[in-house]
Amino acid sequence: MNRLRLFGSLALALAVAGCTKPSGEPAGATAGAKPPAIRIGFLVKQPEEPWFQFEWKGADRAAARYGFEVIKLGVVDGEKTMTAINSLAAKGAQGFVICTPDVRLGPAIVAQARQNQLKVITVDDQFVGADGKFMTSVPYLGMSASRIGESVGRALHDEMQRRRWPAEESAACVVTFEELDTARQRTEGAIAALKAAGFPPGRIYKTPQKTTDVPGSFEAANILLTRHPAVKRWLICALNDTGVLGAVRAMEGRGFAAGDIIGIGINGTDCIDELRKPKPTGFHGSMLVSAPGEGFRTAEMLYLWIKDGTMPPLDTRTTGILITRENFESVLRQEGIID
Ligand code: GLA
Repeated sequence: MNRLRLFGSLALALAVAGCTKPSGEPAGATAGAKPPAIRIGFLVKQPEEPWFQFEWKGADRAAARYGFEVIKLGVVDGEKTMTAINSLAAKGAQGFVICTPDVRLGPAIVAQARQNQLKVITVDDQFVGADGKFMTSVPYLGMSASRIGESVGRALHDEMQRRRWPAEESAACVVTFEELDTARQRTEGAIAALKAAGFPPGRIYKTPQKTTDVPGSFEAANILLTRHPAVKRWLICALNDTGVLGAVRAMEGRGFAAGDIIGIGINGTDCIDELRKPKPTGFHGSMLVSAPGEGFRTAEMLYLWIKDGTMPPLDTRTTGILITRENFESVLRQEGIID
């Protein structure tokens, strides 16, 4: 399994900032040649989402290990993003990692970064150029979205079989956000795996969420439930945990019992409280990907790029593993997500 492990094989910390000679100069520096402190930005589109808070934690761990500084900023729209880039430059940063609020801002972000001589690495959501194609020249680290989606589809089907649900009384609620490629690849992956496992294609229903938060998916699921009142049991998938949580809440609101819902999310970070509830809910599990691992890796790559000129790989993908109420505490502890 090539899943990111947080610290296992990482090189030892290099002696950098904070290490000073009695004169106050950095160790090894000659008078007048003090290297600038390395400072990076870590900008995320949804700072309220645990996923991004765990990425920040990982970036902080990299900063503590190597001795650089991380400036963490929420960038919820294009304007905030541009302001953040300028303020990073003003604070003497040399680069930033970003999960952009809109992938189509890619060309503008790259231009703004260049103007300010800042290096850029994208995490999670890959930039899209004016031609509608991925900007593959900007280093990117993110999920193997189709594969993770397929794992969700297979896990949903396995659980449905285990519960012996008759297919003719069941349906799949797929909460979509297709304007974001990684999201579309995840839900398409889940649909493909459900079909491959023999789930009736005519009983797989997509419903788009307007916003990628719980209210957005709650509303999307409610529209679907109104359209299909005869369905007795529901499978749920979405782009992430939040998408599934909103749909689970909508089904509970319509009187579905926990045993008649199988929701499987993606991230593994935004469902911890849900899985800790004393009574099981319709949220069955999640494909866990290491958010701290992604934060650590991207911050580390950027640091080494700034410090040594080591160009990061252009495309790095992460994979996931299923967590459920049975194993989540131990897996999350092992991954450094909970203490
Ligand atoms: C997107 C989603 C996040 C998370 C990341 C992981 O940005 O919005 O919730 O799933 O992808 O790459």
